[in-house]
Amino acid sequence: MSQQLTQIQPLSQPVHMPDEIATFSPAVEAEIDAHLAKYPVMRSAILPLMFIVQRERGYLDPPGVSYLANRLRLRITDIWEVATFYSMIQTKPVGKYHIQICKTLSCKLLGEPKITEHICKKLGINPGETTADGRFTVSLVECLGSCGTAPMFQIGFDYHENLTPDKVDRILDALP
Ligand code: FES
Repeated sequence: MSQQLTQIQPLSQPVHMPDEIATFSPAVEAEIDAHLAKYPVMRSAILPLMFIVQRERGYLDPPGVSYLANRLRLRITDIWEVATFYSMIQTKPVGKYHIQICKTLSCKLLGEPKITEHICKKLGINPGETTADGRFTVSLVECLGSCGTAPMFQIGFDYHENLTPDKVDRILDALP
């Protein structure tokens, strides 16, 4: 039974991993070592290490996943089950600006559908897609913990709150 469970891969994730394993500069390796040193149980460092791999490679690509599995002495499936749970971990390439629109209750009731429609129309893409120039990806995500200032979205690490279509235009048009 447990053997069968370890072989289950999340849908849309690659079953066969490439031989290639990501490599990083000595400075990044030192950063990774520093995180590993904080935890008595190595796998506890999985999220900080995922953020580093994502930052360095743009997303958690298969060589990056293999690196994490090796470094943390975990199975590939252990890495994927965490990576596919959190919307802040990307398992496919995203645009320069990743617009993560909260679609949960407060945001939904206070105008998320109108905001999403406005953004998608402005950029010419649907949620889950990236613009042809690679600048923008739009995603719908669960509550980002800013319910009192709904509707809101996140771009990178920045929150943008109390959104209106006009405010969305100002935010997106001001991006370099
Ligand atoms: S419901 Fe949107 S931030 Fe919580």
